[in-house]
Order: sequence, then C-alpha cells, then structure tokens
Amino acid sequence: MTIETKKAPPSTLVIFGGTGDLTKRLLLPAVVNLARAKLLPEKFAVLGVGRRDYSSEEFRAELTRSAREIGSIDTKSPAWRWLAGRIDYHKGDFDDPAAFRRLGEALETIARRHRTERNVLFYLATAPEAFPVIIENLGAAGLTDEKAGGWRRVVIEKPFGTDLDSARALNRKILGILEERQAFRIDHYLGKETVQNIMMLRFSNGIFEPLWNRDHIDHVQISVAETVGVETRGKLYDKVGALRDMVPNHLFQVLALIAMEAPASFDADAVRTEKAKVLQAVRSYDCEGCLDNVVRGQYRAGRIGRQAMPGYRGEPDVSARSRTETYVAMKLLVDDWRWAGVPFYLRTGKRLAAKSSQVAIQFKQAPLALFRDLPGDHRMVRNFLVLQIQPDEGVSLQFGVKVPGPAMTVEEVNLDFSYRDRFAMPPSTGYETLIYDCMRGDATLFQRADFVESGWRVLQPMLDAWRDPRAPGPAGYAAGGEGPKVADQLLARDGRTWHTLG
Ligand SMILES: NC(=O)c1ccc[n+]([C@@H]2O[C@H](COP(=O)([O-])OP(=O)(O)OC[C@H]3O[C@@H](n4cnc5c(N)ncnc54)[C@H](OP(=O)(O)O)[C@@H]3O)[C@@H](O)[C@H]2O)c1
Repeated sequence: MTIETKKAPPSTLVIFGGTGDLTKRLLLPAVVNLARAKLLPEKFAVLGVGRRDYSSEEFRAELTRSAREIGSIDTKSPAWRWLAGRIDYHKGDFDDPAAFRRLGEALETIARRHRTERNVLFYLATAPEAFPVIIENLGAAGLTDEKAGGWRRVVIEKPFGTDLDSARALNRKILGILEERQAFRIDHYLGKETVQNIMMLRFSNGIFEPLWNRDHIDHVQISVAETVGVETRGKLYDKVGALRDMVPNHLFQVLALIAMEAPASFDADAVRTEKAKVLQAVRSYDCEGCLDNVVRGQYRAGRIGRQAMPGYRGEPDVSARSRTETYVAMKLLVDDWRWAGVPFYLRTGKRLAAKSSQVAIQFKQAPLALFRDLPGDHRMVRNFLVLQIQPDEGVSLQFGVKVPGPAMTVEEVNLDFSYRDRFAMPPSTGYETLIYDCMRGDATLFQRADFVESGWRVLQPMLDAWRDPRAPGPAGYAAGGEGPKVADQLLARDGRTWHTLG
C-alpha cells in the first residue's frame, strides 16, 4: 500500500499471455492509466510473450486493433502513444527452455535500449496450469537471479491452487525458485479502492475501533453477488464452482481486512502477518460441521428484469447433470479474543437479483426499547455499518431517529458516504495500484504463502464433505432471485436475516 505517490522505478514488464484476454482487457489499460497519471518512469518497457507468430510491430497493431474493438484504451491518447513506443513481442512456448534463454537475451537488449536497469517484473497472465512450468523455466534460465543487478519479481494470477494440496505444491515450486519477497500472488479485488479503504476506515479513525469487537458487534456479513451467469466460461467454471472461484481469494481477503488486528506499521509483512492470523483463527469444521454451516446452490431458469435467463445446466459447455455450485453461503467463526462467538456469514453467487459486493456489520442492539410503553412503533432499531465495495462504492451507517410528530415513533435511516459524490474517480481497471506496487516492491496488497494455505485449510473440509454421496446437492434458486432458501435458513436459525443487496 502506497502512502505517497511517486514514479515507479525503471523496469521492464514481461507479460506471459501477452496476446490473451486479461492483458487486452485489464492489464494494458491499467498500464495506460498509470502512464496517464505520470506514475511510470521514462525508462520503461513492455514485452509480451505468446505462441503466435507476431513481429513486435504486428503485436502493437493487434493490441491497438483489439483496444479499439473492446473500447478499453483511447488509442489516440498521448498515454497510449507513449506506451506503444515501448512495447515489444517475444515468441515462445512456455514449455520450451530455449525460448527462455532467448527471452534472457531479449531482456538484455531492452535493458540497453530503454535503460531499465535490468529490473524485470514477470506477469503470469496465463491459465493456472502454466504457472509451474513458467516459473521453472524462468529459474532454469537464470532470469529470476538478482545477483547480476536489478530486481526480479513474478506476479502470479489467480486461481492459486484448486485445493489445499495443489496450493501447497505451487507454493513449494515458487519458493524453491524465488524468495517470498519476489513472489506477488495477486487478487485484483485488493486493487479496489473500497477494499483498501477498509484498513483506512478502521485504523485512521478513533470512532470505529473501540466498537470493533465481540462486545459490540453482533455479526458480520460479507457478500459478493453477481447478476452475470457463467457466460462463455462454462467449461472452466463447471470444474471450479463458486466456492473455489470466489472464497479463498476475494471473500477471505475482505474477511481478513475486517477481522485483523491493527498492524504495528503499514509495512507489507506487518499487515500480512495480521491478515494471516485471522485465517489461522477460523474454526475448521469436520464433515458434519461443514454440512451444517455451509450451503450451496445452483441457478435455475428465471428472469432478470424482463430478460429470460437459462438455468445453469442449460448454459453452453455445462453438463446437463452438473452438481457444480453457482452459489455458496457459510457461517464461519473466528476463534480469537476479539471475535469469539461473533458469526461471520459469507455468501457469493451468480445470477442474483443485484450486482453488489458489500460488508454489512450489525452492531448489538440497545439493551431495551426505552419507549415501549408509549403508543407507536417501538421495534428495536438495527445498527448496520455497510461498506459497499461495488458498485456505488461508499459507506453507510444505519441508525434510528424519531419520526417528526406527536407520537414517539422510530424509523431506521442511513447516513451515507458515496465515493462518486465526493471524489473524482480516475479511470481504473482495479489493476493499477497492484502493478504500481509490484514495480515498487510493495507486497502489502498481495497474498503471502501462509495466507493462501490457511485459507485452503478452512475450505478443504468443505470440498471433502461435498464429495460424500450423503451430502445434499446444490439447492436450486431462480435466476434473478436472492439465492437459495437454504442460505436464508442458515441465518434464520440464528434469528438473523441477510442484509439487502445493492
Ligand atoms: N480474462 C479476464 O478478464 C481475467 C480476469 C481475472 C483473472 N484472469 C486470469 O488470468 C489468466 C489468463 O486468463 P485469460 O483470460 O487472459 O486467458 P487467455 O485469453 O486464454 O490467454 C492465454 C494466453 O496464454 C498464452 N499461452 C497459452 N499457452 C501457451 C503456451 N504453451 N506457450 C505460450 N503461450 C501460451 C496464449 O498465447 P497465444 O494466444 O499466443 O496462444 C495467450 O496469450 C487466468 O489465470 C485467469 O484466471 C483473467
């Protein structure tokens, strides 16, 4: 996390998967936004790596063409012209060690031409199956070695493993070749302003922290709801499901930021140590505990607005008998002194009524309804602090006020802060801060190995429990609805309800 902003140091950004979707839609637009914000150094270059037979000139032309088609970059802008003059292409297969030796030579040439001081950021914008072989070949070609001068860092995209064993194996591979400080496991969710604001809100204000514990908080809800279905990702998603796709990364990042202790400083390791401690404290369930506290759903046909939507099993490339969950909700307990006994309810799903990511923190209710003997409505007021992550980023606090008039009637109202109303929001893909931080060597917003493995430790028993033939399959829910009834029941049995999305 950056406190002050200044230009990143000289460097070359090497993108494995330079011809891919992520690069075109998000990474290059983010680099252009950094250039526009004058945060990139003059001594900067980009090298795309892919299998296709492009010259550097053809690669630049393809990037320009696709940027126009997608509308992701203003290709007439000075920032794009500045960047395009620094982009090259390197053809090579990830499996081919010779391609990595040639890559080393190409990097030396670029370092001389653009005076990038031999600093290199390797970005693995590829399918996860390619991560190990790329890291292995980088190591074998000596490209991760910093002895000859300049730093070498590697950004690893999500998903990081598909279960505890695969995450551990990937960490072993990475840490056999790189030092932890060279590895940047990315979760673009942490690039979002409102996610970063959680720490600012908690630790720069004196008013929240005294209340931020089991004495004052009744429970916490973390929701990531999408209206989209699986779109063209059916084949991939059917093997993954909502739990693997969203929980170990996005939801656990938010959980850690909400539940962590104040770090001793904003130093990357101090922050990441506190975050990892949260996941280490999450209670691990046995099979029965998983079936009691974790529910899953799968969307059926329905409507969003006027548009009819197919059910999940009717989506392209999805098995007609698929048991893959498109929705998951769970109750977790963080067994530490701050949170003992406070449930954290997490939910995420596709094809829901609203696109909304939010944290809703419900404070304990007043001990009694003081005005209960007077005529009027005297229900107990609920105090929610809601951090809206997307869309309409903001913070809102719900409390009770007296309705004007002779009767003593209470009504819940909101005190709202909206980012959009207060600040000019610069164009952002969510990757700008993350790329900039990598170039500056600041790993605060990246996942450390122990965090990733602690997350999978919590989730692995759930995956195992679902494999049991006695486990109920995903409950159906209508596309465009609020999710399956089992998710409502999960809270109802504790006398609680989900906060409205959106
Ligand atoms: N797309 C998104 O919006 C998005 C968002 C968040 C995270 N992600 C993550 O980002 C990663 C990449 O996703 P993507 O959608 O960009 O994938 P993609 O469009 O399929 O791109 C894959 C890239 O990898 C290259 N490639 C594949 N096999 C190769 C090989 N053996 N040797 C050399 N190059 C090879 C391809 O090069 P050729 O074209 O030359 O074959 C292409 O550039 C995934 O881990 C995904 O989960 C994607």
